[in-house]
Amino acid sequence: MDIYECILNRRSIRHYTEKPIADDVVRRVLNAGRLAPSAVNLQPWRFIVIRSGEMRRALVECTRGGKQRQLEMGTMALVACGNERDCYQHQGNFLKTYAIDVAIALEHIMLAAAAEGLGTCWIGAFDEPAVKDLLDIPDPWRVVAMTPLGYPDESPDFKGRKPLAEIVCYEKWEEKG
Ligand SMILES: Cc1cc2nc3c(=O)[nH]c(=O)nc-3n(C[C@H](O)[C@H](O)[C@H](O)COP(=O)(O)O)c2cc1C
Repeated sequence: MDIYECILNRRSIRHYTEKPIADDVVRRVLNAGRLAPSAVNLQPWRFIVIRSGEMRRALVECTRGGKQRQLEMGTMALVACGNERDCYQHQGNFLKTYAIDVAIALEHIMLAAAAEGLGTCWIGAFDEPAVKDLLDIPDPWRVVAMTPLGYPDESPDFKGRKPLAEIVCYEKWEEKG
């Protein structure tokens, strides 16, 4: 699948089938994350693959209101972690990059998953200390996001996006109505 097709067709998937994912497919998708760019090429990321249904149910309990049930559907979830100490500390002279680095790698994973016919859904509504405790994640690692990974059991409509004219300026900042 062409990259633009992946970008166009990817959706956040919240319902999954039980169909297992072949190991080589999982490996290709994770490898797409490994190849992502990061500040000073520090690669301050770790991806935890969770296959255990019991563990994924426990992860759901770590989400806000225990509502992100898509994490326990299908056969697998990923927990994306970033190292806040061993990442570039001064982006723009004000920002640590671990969350940016991990987000880019996870988006690589999500687009590769889409190319493989798999679904993902960025989960940001979780209680980080609870996830760290559940999975024994030490400091200075932070949990940036989680996602289910599996074969979609739904085909959501495109949610729409702001038009380019509203989000792009040329040469300098422009106020947009
Ligand atoms: C930073 C971030 C946090 C998100 N958190 C959640 C979440 O906690 N639960 C959820 O179901 N979707 C979550 N999403 C998915 C968005 O709701 C989704 O990307 C958006 O509505 C657009 O839909 P689409 O991905 O199908 O194009 C999150 C997405 C991002 C980028």
